[in-house]
Amino acid sequence: MSIEQVRITIFDTTLRDGEQSPGCSMNLQEKLRVAHQLDRLGADVIEAGFPIASDGDFAAVKTIAAVIRRPIIAGLARACRLDIERAWEALKDAARPRIHVFLATSDIHLKYKLRITREECLAQAREAVAFAKSLCNDVEFSPEDATRTDPEFLCQVLEAVIDAGATTLNIPDTVGYTVPSEFGELIATIRGRVRGIENVTISAHCHNDLGMAVANTMAAIAAGARQVECTINGIGERAGNASLEEIVMAMRVRHDRYPYETAINAEHLFPASQLLSEITGVPVQPNKAIIGRNAFAHEAGIHQDGMLKNPLTYEIMTPQSVGVPDSKLVLGKHSGRHALAIRCEQLGYQFDRRALDDIYRRFVRLADKIKKVEDHHLLELIRDTHKPAASATPLFEPLPTAIAAAAGASASAAEPPLPFPMASQTHTFGLPLPIAADRNHDQQQEDYLWGV
Ligand code: KIV
Ligand code: ZN
Repeated sequence: MSIEQVRITIFDTTLRDGEQSPGCSMNLQEKLRVAHQLDRLGADVIEAGFPIASDGDFAAVKTIAAVIRRPIIAGLARACRLDIERAWEALKDAARPRIHVFLATSDIHLKYKLRITREECLAQAREAVAFAKSLCNDVEFSPEDATRTDPEFLCQVLEAVIDAGATTLNIPDTVGYTVPSEFGELIATIRGRVRGIENVTISAHCHNDLGMAVANTMAAIAAGARQVECTINGIGERAGNASLEEIVMAMRVRHDRYPYETAINAEHLFPASQLLSEITGVPVQPNKAIIGRNAFAHEAGIHQDGMLKNPLTYEIMTPQSVGVPDSKLVLGKHSGRHALAIRCEQLGYQFDRRALDDIYRRFVRLADKIKKVEDHHLLELIRDTHKPAASATPLFEPLPTAIAAAAGASASAAEPPLPFPMASQTHTFGLPLPIAADRNHDQQQEDYLWGV
């Protein structure tokens, strides 16, 4: 019996909601580069901009609509004729256009921002969606600030816009106020109460003001949302939007809990993140999940030791699976001898235990001073620790020029490598050695006490 997989539509709003965040504005060429990357990534919907907002936004949506033909291209519009006409003007040549209409529904927004009554809000939403539908078959409606809207009234508005022709109902947590259990209940309430809901797609759009955007999005999916709105690197208004890479990988890594599929090619996640960061000049926080510089770095000795024995010990996904070139063992003061030995082997040096102890002592002192020990530091330290006079067996391969240069030492390409104590000549320079599987228990215990 084949179990049908539930497919989640990934609606990327990096170029619209993401671009609204301070320091993230992009010109047309930059937006086009990002759009191409989102296409490669496999996003189902690209929200390319807010055409009425500026001529630049209009041009970007129009160009992306003309060039990127696979995904749906969406353009945002307030619930009024002028906005919707402008959005349609930008979108009409798209292979798959979508008009995204929004109108606030919470009493706070109605009273202080729009200064309209609930009745006026209901009528405006209905009319705007009907007008958008007269231009474009694919219409999404968002009741802005939905999570602070009276649920009764929210359901009334949603029913009205379904009648008017909306095909996707997006539920925004505009101010990042909700929590997972509450948001899941809201989606379940909408599914249970709104007439005609079975004919439309429910979408979630979460902001990260309390750091719960991704958790809220996952709760919405579990409660029946089938589209999620998100951005690369989680960029967006204030604390940002739900991060695309985190949502996608949560479904992939915890498929047991979230048995849903997306069309995302995960190995393009890291390149997408890098591209966006390079274009906007906004760096990704180092500890950002999935694509941060440290997401696959291991410095603590115990972690490095585990990683070297089997990456399953400390990595729940491979770096390659999200397009990160390789996991990095950062050599610092918390590193142990095991990691140090492997790095030495990768640099072409293999030591017996006593020799490694000597290097390790000096390495720890150096790491204390300079925090991160790079390869060229290590090479220098190796040279210094084991001068040619020391009891040694010649090294099996000469150092290539590049590493000799990196060492910054007097070694020239022609100079033979310095001799060091070593075990058997079992590997070729530059290839990591397989990890010894048969190390006895005492040695492992000793490594542990050494702080590997
Ligand atoms: O956060 C929000 O409410 C929005 C809407 C326009 C969907 O971005
Ligand atoms: Zn938003």
